[in-house]
Amino acid sequence: MVSALPDFPWDRLVPYKKLAESHPDGIVDLSVGTPVDPVPDVVRKALANASNSPGYPTTHGTDTVRRAAAGWLHRQHGVAVDPVDVLPTIGSKELVAWLPTLLGVGSGDRVVFPELAYPTYDVGARLAGASPYATDGLVSLGPERVPLVWVNSPSNPTGRVLGVPHLRKVVDWAREHGAVVASDECYIGLGFEEQPVSVLHPEVCGGSHDGLLAVHSLSKRSNLAGYRAAFVTGDPALIRRLLEVRKHAGMMVPAPVQAAMAAALGDDEHADRQRDLYAARRAALRPLLEAAGWTIEHSTAGLYLWATNGTGCWDQVRWLAERGILVAPGDFYGEAGKNHVRIGVTATDERIAAAAGRLQ
Ligand SMILES: Cc1ncc(COP(=O)(O)O)c(C=O)c1O
Repeated sequence: MVSALPDFPWDRLVPYKKLAESHPDGIVDLSVGTPVDPVPDVVRKALANASNSPGYPTTHGTDTVRRAAAGWLHRQHGVAVDPVDVLPTIGSKELVAWLPTLLGVGSGDRVVFPELAYPTYDVGARLAGASPYATDGLVSLGPERVPLVWVNSPSNPTGRVLGVPHLRKVVDWAREHGAVVASDECYIGLGFEEQPVSVLHPEVCGGSHDGLLAVHSLSKRSNLAGYRAAFVTGDPALIRRLLEVRKHAGMMVPAPVQAAMAAALGDDEHADRQRDLYAARRAALRPLLEAAGWTIEHSTAGLYLWATNGTGCWDQVRWLAERGILVAPGDFYGEAGKNHVRIGVTATDERIAAAAGRLQ
């Protein structure tokens, strides 16, 4: 049975959004990580060219999109997968939310994820009737059987990158305990001070993808959040299992979106340009936040600055909202975030400049 779902936390931010909106020069919304820059032309053309798609798409996706995904992983991240082991998903959030259910995790099982984390790992455990368990120390789990462990590097919300030794330890632990490691790598292309590495990289997994899944998304890399375009790859046996259930459940990516995904994965130029835009926005905000009394922690990759000025997160949210800047309170991501705020760099250059002016 599904355990109670948490309250939708964003409702608590509404009064602060109203406050920020009352700023004479308008709100600068840095609270959500939704892309604001245009969808690249190469991707829009591919979508348009595939618009005459009267037939059902396949759940496994076209050969073209699976080859494009495997090619991108190899070219950009040094990971070799057989295209047959790539499975397109309808954005990555649905996979995160349904993976425990799709893997047959259920009552009495613990789904493990980081103490500070994207809330959907918790939701996915509950949807499966399993127990969500937030911890950064796997050894605290003792000898119990754990079917599924999530890692997320670069992290939402902290922008922390897990290095090769850390990921290798997680993989070794999981293999000893028979757990699947699901690695949410949706920000992997956004390395700034540090370069993220995939759980499927041979230095991490020793060349075997047994028990491992890597989840990738086009939402941030290619501004495709509105298209719902992502994929999962890794252990061939696990991918086959996911494919089988997803076929029965009708979890398939629309054909024009598959064509758009293939074009996006085949082109690195737009992704490099987009990363440069985010780099400039981070560089504009970071020193001004520091001068205004914030310390930035982790945040070496991804789309967020994880910041604290030592007060409670809601006091920080209010202070910034009074200046028309909306950010997310750290406690949305776990108790350990109660003195932090998450500041997204997903706003236009014009809005980032407005925020910079207000912080000065
Ligand atoms: C860590 C993490 N995983 C997954 C997602 C879902 O992204 P999408 O469903 O757009 O692929 C997000 C979205 O912000 C995220 O932060």
